[in-house]
Amino acid sequence: MKQSVLIFAISCLLASCGSNDSADHQHPAAQTSNVNKAVLEADVTDGRQVVVLLADDNMKFNAKEVKVKAGMPVELTLKHTGKAPKVTMGHNVVILRPDVVVSDFVERANAAAATDYIPEELTGQIVVHTRMLGGGESDTRTFTFEKPGTYTFLCTFPGHSMIMKGKFVVE
Ligand code: CU
Repeated sequence: MKQSVLIFAISCLLASCGSNDSADHQHPAAQTSNVNKAVLEADVTDGRQVVVLLADDNMKFNAKEVKVKAGMPVELTLKHTGKAPKVTMGHNVVILRPDVVVSDFVERANAAAATDYIPEELTGQIVVHTRMLGGGESDTRTFTFEKPGTYTFLCTFPGHSMIMKGKFVVE
């Protein structure tokens, strides 16, 4: 009797795991099937490629992939659409050069609390980064990808890049 109740409870958990979006955060294995797969395409205005990334209190970006072109300025805005303060749910966007070992970079970033989790000794590995933002804030950077390639972007607030990570596909 007890066992059947337990099995019922477990199957409920599994069922909700498949449909409840917020449950994904605790299940790295489920990420490939259920994370945001949105692809953003830049809006070209006045010779600039305008890209707006959103981040929220659920530790998510609104896109996993951003498509832009090399050789034309990118105007990248990050908006933190949540309410949580920077100290508990800060978000930034850091775009890394294609040859960077992301896990090594993240390790150094984790230790860089004094500089808002930007490892100053590794700035040569960064194409561009925004400020670390709290809820309601935004920051804009304009830069140019000189070469086509696939560039990882991530949030360097500790723990966030497990989910808050994607790629700029530059053509
Ligand atoms: Cu973050």
